[in-house]
Amino acid sequence: MAINKDSVSGTLIVAVLVCLICGVFVAAAAVGLRPVQDQNRVLDKRLNILQAAGLYEAGMDVEAAFERIERRFVDLESGEYVEMPDNYDQRKAAKNPNASTALKGDEDIASIRRRPNVAEVYLSVDDGGDVQVIILPISGYGLWSTLHGFVALQADVNTVAGLGFYEHAETPGLGGEVDNPRWKGQWPGKQLFNDSGELAIEVIKGTVDTSSDKAVHQVDGLAGATLTTKGVDNLVQFWLGENGFGPYLARLRADAAEPAEQGADDSVTLSAVN
Ligand SMILES: Cc1cc2nc3c(=O)[nH]c(=O)nc-3n(C[C@H](O)[C@H](O)[C@H](O)COP(=O)(O)O)c2cc1C
Repeated sequence: MAINKDSVSGTLIVAVLVCLICGVFVAAAAVGLRPVQDQNRVLDKRLNILQAAGLYEAGMDVEAAFERIERRFVDLESGEYVEMPDNYDQRKAAKNPNASTALKGDEDIASIRRRPNVAEVYLSVDDGGDVQVIILPISGYGLWSTLHGFVALQADVNTVAGLGFYEHAETPGLGGEVDNPRWKGQWPGKQLFNDSGELAIEVIKGTVDTSSDKAVHQVDGLAGATLTTKGVDNLVQFWLGENGFGPYLARLRADAAEPAEQGADDSVTLSAVN
């Protein structure tokens, strides 16, 4: 049956056919490219972990470099390692009431509402099986968005190896300066704990006074982005504090301080093989 192209019905039929054909192409592309997108997401996360740990140099093969990294799971309440399935997703768990804990008002300084019961940690391990860098996921609210990233610690469980965010929607040039290599460059070498063993790391408003005793624990705020700065400080306090990785860090620090007794309790140790 011939269609009169100049009629209203002819125009509608052509329009519908074009829509259908385009729809099939778009759907096929979306489904067909999903495995590639998933693979790229994994690669991007791995790159961010390596960058936060200071283990990435331009041009490096991310997969090869990541072979030195072990993924472990930590029960945040006890600080002990636990077994979890490979496909465990901490961000999904944080939304599941059966796999997360609701945070009360004053506990929720990072404004995340729920904290997963089990968190991933990444350990950079040397040839002898000893942990060199501990990489912890962190997240919290800035001004416009929840920032997701990693903080990396040296094996002394006190010195920062690096910090970086792989996802946020803060304003470029303001809160978005969390991605500025110059700002991120301040983190390596900073000390988490003071001489009394209290968590002392902080992101301050303004510039660090380098002559101050506290300078070793302080990072400059972001110029013109006080709210993102406060958000980053809050999320660092949360994840390194009592309701975050505090119990895990305390156990690692006890291990690091008493290597002679290492092995008495191998549930948390700086040797990654246990
Ligand atoms: C369009 C626009 C985007 C902004 N983005 C951010 C941002 O990403 N992070 C932030 O902390 N402040 C941002 N600000 C600025 C805040 O509104 C606020 O003025 C700033 O954090 C300084 O706060 P203070 O005056 O208390 O120091 C933005 C302001 C405007 C107008």
